[in-house]
Amino acid sequence: MAVTSTYPDVMDKLVSLCKRRGFIFQSSEVYGGTGSVWDYGPLGVELKKNLKDRWWHAMVRARSDIEGLDAAILMHPRVWEASGHVSGFVDPLVDCRNCKKRFRADDPRIKGTPGTADAQCPACGMKGTLSEPRQFNLMFKTFMGPVEDTASVVYLRPETAQGIFVNFLNVQQSTRQKVPFGIAQIGKAFRNEITPGNFIFRTREFEQMEMQFFVDPESDHMAWFEFWKGHRMDWHRSLGLAPDRLQFHQHDPSELAHYARAAFDIQFDFGGGLGFQEIEGVHHRSDFDLSRHQEFSGKRLEYFDQPANRRYIPFVIETSVGADRTFLALLVNGYREETVPGEEEGRAVLGLHPSLAPIKAGVFPLVKKDGMPEFAERLANELRASFTVFYDESGAIGRRYRRQDEIGTPFCVTVDGQSTADNTVTVRDRDTLLQERIPASAVANFIRERVHP
Ligand code: GAP
Repeated sequence: MAVTSTYPDVMDKLVSLCKRRGFIFQSSEVYGGTGSVWDYGPLGVELKKNLKDRWWHAMVRARSDIEGLDAAILMHPRVWEASGHVSGFVDPLVDCRNCKKRFRADDPRIKGTPGTADAQCPACGMKGTLSEPRQFNLMFKTFMGPVEDTASVVYLRPETAQGIFVNFLNVQQSTRQKVPFGIAQIGKAFRNEITPGNFIFRTREFEQMEMQFFVDPESDHMAWFEFWKGHRMDWHRSLGLAPDRLQFHQHDPSELAHYARAAFDIQFDFGGGLGFQEIEGVHHRSDFDLSRHQEFSGKRLEYFDQPANRRYIPFVIETSVGADRTFLALLVNGYREETVPGEEEGRAVLGLHPSLAPIKAGVFPLVKKDGMPEFAERLANELRASFTVFYDESGAIGRRYRRQDEIGTPFCVTVDGQSTADNTVTVRDRDTLLQERIPASAVANFIRERVHP
């Protein structure tokens, strides 16, 4: 449910900035675009990769009790019967017989009751043309192999989680992990969303970062649920998302997904009319998925607790966060427009955490003469071995700073007349605007110390 926020709506500004500066483009734009599918440009792919690296580090590399996985997108079709997605992953939809548009049955723009003469289509305005609600599955279907028949139907996965469940014993036995332990993966998921929109907030192709944590059902599993709730909220704060823009939302029984025993969303305040919306779900999935895969595959998926000489199907606590949605939260959270003392022109800034910024440093010669460009290019090339840097010698220095502020570059290194004499440069901080003079040989360490999470 949308909650009006006290934060301004910056979505239109961000859509334009993302296109202009190469963060995000509409998919197949030259053909008029594909509905709710987006391409990440040179800066976007860096920011998204940095975000995924932060998650992977926190959830896999920094922990001894979580293993990584990269399962295939295409899976055996029985997986989706077992998981409940074939029968349960549906939205009730209505069609307009006149304009052929489709709407969710609960679309607030529909006046009257769909299927009756008084119902009015929100798109073409005709009365009595809306069908009764019909269940519409959100999974994309395709065919595997040369024959397009019902036997060869496969689905594009609507969540990455099932790849983890079906590999539970492969991972546990190959790594000799003991319950409690987790499996994590990052990957694409696909949903034929009926009301997509708000830029990359709800799309038909997106990336999830999911972790399933397997716990003994006879242990204090709710304590693990609480642990992961807190841990995941702390992670979002560590990205620099403002604490007052983050909150938990508990699902009441009517909101719970078919697999969930308990669920909390972590919501971020996107501002404007969108307000607080889910960016991550923390779910208690009990033994639903493993039990169903055991039943449908006929293979035992129990864990053997050797010291206790006990076999059981573990409970699962899941953390599931969207990479694209968190990306959007970072842009919304970081975007600001401000005046600069002593300057007429204001500036737009993306206040991204240095670890996430797509470019770590801009390197500029103050002017294009007296050996400054050669010095600056040499320095940029040295820094490039360790960081993403951008060399720029064109235009006024103020403009070059502004261009970096707008894409979130935390540091600008300027080579001036003094540099060629004493091998020092100035480093400008994006947020404080303070400039510090340091030896050119110290720049790499200066940046390294500050880009760490
Ligand atoms: N395995 C559990 C699961 O998939 P979910 O709440 O449906 O749970 C988890 O999705 C996260 O995936 C969401 O919090 C959101 O960040 C992201 N997500 C889901 N659908 C999305 C969509 N259509 N577009 C972008 N992100 C989406």
